[in-house]
Amino acid sequence: MQYDETKFAEYFAEHPEDISIDDIDMARLPRHISCIMDGNGRWATSRGMNRGEGHKAGIVALREIITACVRMGVDVLSAYAFSTENWNRPQSEVNLLMHLFAKTFIDELPLLKRENVRVEFLGDISALPQKTREVFEYGLAETKDHTGMILALAVNYGARAELARAARLIVQDVQSGKLMAEKVDEKAVAARLYTSDLPDPELVIRTSGEMRVSNYLLWQIAYSEFYVTDTYWPDFDRWGLVRAIASFQARDRRFGGLTDSK
Ligand code: IPE
Ligand code: IPE
Ligand code: MG
Repeated sequence: MQYDETKFAEYFAEHPEDISIDDIDMARLPRHISCIMDGNGRWATSRGMNRGEGHKAGIVALREIITACVRMGVDVLSAYAFSTENWNRPQSEVNLLMHLFAKTFIDELPLLKRENVRVEFLGDISALPQKTREVFEYGLAETKDHTGMILALAVNYGARAELARAARLIVQDVQSGKLMAEKVDEKAVAARLYTSDLPDPELVIRTSGEMRVSNYLLWQIAYSEFYVTDTYWPDFDRWGLVRAIASFQARDRRFGGLTDSK
């Protein structure tokens, strides 16, 4: 982990032939980058290892991407770690993941503190096994005053569940007289999502080649740019991130309007 201490230039100094840090415009970085961290299992099985080893390797990759985003000065990094549908996996894999989340979070807390990272969770963490929940709550409290990058971890997250929850909260506020039904607009919905204090992601990266959203941030990605790479998440590194940002910066984001030149 010694590279965590290196400065930006050092961190991105040794680069592959096809890409370098100069290929991106640091003045036009996405403020919020979001990763659907997919492919841990396939990474492991393609090497004759068990899926658990893939999840462990996935954590090493996440650490690298956190550090890279901190070095670049990205405001928000979010990462999809466990979906509401992932409970459907074999109990042994669910248990392993929950254990790994708790262990990693304790192990990595010094890094998050050193880098001034504030942690947030997207999703219902109250439904997690007690140990994992307690570690997460401890981490939240320990980093709440940090002023650097926000790391938003989506755990037990599903966008449909999030939207149903927002609807419930709106109904409660209307019933209690806090909100008028006529005032229920996009802002009122956005304010009741787990991401209420975050800008929408400008760039969503999905590893391992799947061209789908898998119930992730359905509301927030309305105008996000997508970048899908065949690389499995454990192999995704700072250069994969730089390639994704370069691709993002080459796009013409129109938001339903027309580009100036047209
Ligand atoms: C992503 O990797 C991690 C989680 C969903 C927890 P997968 O476990 O989905 O890996 P693949 O897609 O089976 O290769
Ligand atoms: C999406 O990956 C969820 C996470 C990365 C946590 P999945 O592996 O669960 O998605 P599907 O099943 O391929 O759609
Ligand atoms: Mg998967």
